[in-house]
Amino acid sequence: MRSQQVHHPLFARFYARLSISMESAGVDKRRDAMLAGLTGSVIEVGAGNGLNFAHYPGTVTSVLAVEPEQHLRGLALISADEAKVPITVADGTADRLPADDRSFDAVVASLMLCSVPDQAVALAEMHRVLRPGGELRFMEHVSSESAGQRRVQRLVDATIWPVCFGGCHAGRDTLAAIAAAGFRVEEVEHYRLPDSRLWPTTPHALGVAVRA
Ligand SMILES: C[S@@+](CC[C@H](N)C(=O)[O-])C[C@H]1O[C@@H](n2cnc3c(N)ncnc32)[C@H](O)[C@@H]1O
Repeated sequence: MRSQQVHHPLFARFYARLSISMESAGVDKRRDAMLAGLTGSVIEVGAGNGLNFAHYPGTVTSVLAVEPEQHLRGLALISADEAKVPITVADGTADRLPADDRSFDAVVASLMLCSVPDQAVALAEMHRVLRPGGELRFMEHVSSESAGQRRVQRLVDATIWPVCFGGCHAGRDTLAAIAAAGFRVEEVEHYRLPDSRLWPTTPHALGVAVRA
């Protein structure tokens, strides 16, 4: 099986800038909440420029951060050097994680399940590399509970959104996909960021799912 290619040089540069300004708009607090209490070995999938790295608690013994996009991976390497827990940055994609079965205590997926070509395949890989009872920590923008905003999400997903934003889909039902992949969603917080319905990616879900 050939693994997926991820080559979005323009989006990578755009995201590297935008993401830093979004941190002070509240994303940094959400990263703290997503990673709070984690222990042991962690694999982070689609790590981007490494904005989670500074938020890992000292109880995490190692992080394998997988990032397929070259520019973002270079920035992740710099972030890894500054982190207080040991982080190894590796090339790889969610459909074929560079890890053995049941080898991690936790998987982290933030703002990336919107962008993988096939959520079921990515989540099956996350399930494979997690030990039984291990946790998937997630922070994702998701499909809206408002019918009007869902219509907008469907429209942009069928037209401009994936092309403009590195394969991102605004309105995926990611919680349903997590449950369908064999995880038990134990905690979930829904919020809007920013607090508006004007932008298609404002509805978010942050939580913990346990590998059955
Ligand atoms: C919006 S960025 C989020 C980055 C980071 N997780 C964060 O929280 O800031 C989406 C990330 O998903 C990555 N990505 C896209 N397709 C992927 C795939 N098939 N496998 C793994 N990562 C992928 C992108 O390269 C990018 O780093």
